[in-house]
Amino acid sequence: MFDFNELKKLIVPAQFGSDEYNEVTDSMQTVFEQLPLSVQTVWGATQFVIIDGANDKVAKIPFTGEFWEDDNEAIRFTPYRINYCDFTYKLYRQALDYDIIDIFAETEYFGTTANDVIILLQEKVIDYYDRKDCSPSTISEDSKNKYKSLKGERSSAWQMFPEDWVTAAIEWYGIDVVRNFFWFCDNNCLDDFHTGNIGWRKDGSPCVLDWAGFNE
Ligand SMILES: Nc1ncnc2c1ncn2[C@@H]1O[C@H](COP(=O)(O)OP(=O)(O)OP(=O)(O)O)[C@@H](O)[C@H]1O
Ligand SMILES: [Mg+2]
Repeated sequence: MFDFNELKKLIVPAQFGSDEYNEVTDSMQTVFEQLPLSVQTVWGATQFVIIDGANDKVAKIPFTGEFWEDDNEAIRFTPYRINYCDFTYKLYRQALDYDIIDIFAETEYFGTTANDVIILLQEKVIDYYDRKDCSPSTISEDSKNKYKSLKGERSSAWQMFPEDWVTAAIEWYGIDVVRNFFWFCDNNCLDDFHTGNIGWRKDGSPCVLDWAGFNE
């Protein structure tokens, strides 16, 4: 099994808040070259996700910015203003004060890379569209009716989530918790819950796995 402590030796090619990185040619490659072939790496716009089949947690390291090619085909680097893993962890700690915390994939601070970029560990969950791997849960008529009433309340957050996920959330956590969760999302402007950012646990309970959004 890949030892996540190895990630603490990584040099992530840039840090936040500086623009000295125009010479770096390919940030992702530079990081992935430092990882063994046995681990799977997945990424979206804001972070590396390091997945080892044998580990029930995944590791997350934020991208520090974005590489792009200018008109002269030179590679340029624009640092992000936001450290998305810091932001993820800050919100997670806030959510700990509420009854909504079980909706968030369990997340812990693990340390930093050799050049001080945060590393998070997160419970491994199942992508929204891979739900066939979970045991199907039976949703009660009561939860389906509560879904309809919640829909009538017009919170902006709930509208992003697919009906089966929300109905399952009502079934698992109760409508008050789901309402509080949407309230928390609205209050913190969390508005990027596309299907790549939500999922399920093995027991069928719905959860979110990425709540940091993208706000450059
Ligand atoms: N806890 C997890 N368990 C299993 N897979 C995960 C987990 N977290 C992330 N992944 C996988 O990695 C992908 C990218 O992760 P994440 O959404 O956290 O990164 P991102 O860079 O913010 O993505 P995007 O910008 O596309 O939203 C997810 O869509 C999912 O497939
Ligand atoms: Mg994401």
